[in-house]
Amino acid sequence: MLSDSMAHALNSHLNTEHFSAELYLSMSSAAGVMGFKGAATWFMVQHQEEMAHFMKFYGYLSSQGVLVKLVAADIPNSYASLLEMFEKTLTHEQHITKAINHLMDHAVKESDHASQIFLQWFISEQIEEEENDRDIIGKLKLIGDNGYGLLMLDNDLGRRVFVPQPAAI
Ligand code: FEO
Repeated sequence: MLSDSMAHALNSHLNTEHFSAELYLSMSSAAGVMGFKGAATWFMVQHQEEMAHFMKFYGYLSSQGVLVKLVAADIPNSYASLLEMFEKTLTHEQHITKAINHLMDHAVKESDHASQIFLQWFISEQIEEEENDRDIIGKLKLIGDNGYGLLMLDNDLGRRVFVPQPAAI
């Protein structure tokens, strides 16, 4: 059983994961409009991953008998470059990492072992998310305005595929 404050904190984060999913779907559209079809695929896969994260929170809260409350949010959709998109992606993921860490602190403080087990997967996932973003930002900075380099990187980003995660903990 979850405390009211833990249930509220997890529900709030569920909405943040949903925001992430919509943010990356919007970035997929922006990348496609810029002509980066590979990056559009990369962000579409990121959108799918975030929807899976959102559904993990939904599934956990449902299994704990919590009524989920969804909140609508405004999604930005204006970007000057691919580099800006990935820098904003990294900044957003660093924000998510902090939020997950706060949730874990909350669960530890309450001796809520079930939530600690649930959140452990997200702690590991955030390490990978930030690393991926840093790698791409590093490549984009090396490439600069070189069209051939951007084409090669875009082809590489377009190879990303969504790997479904188990729905449960
Ligand atoms: Fe679900 Fe990218 O954090």
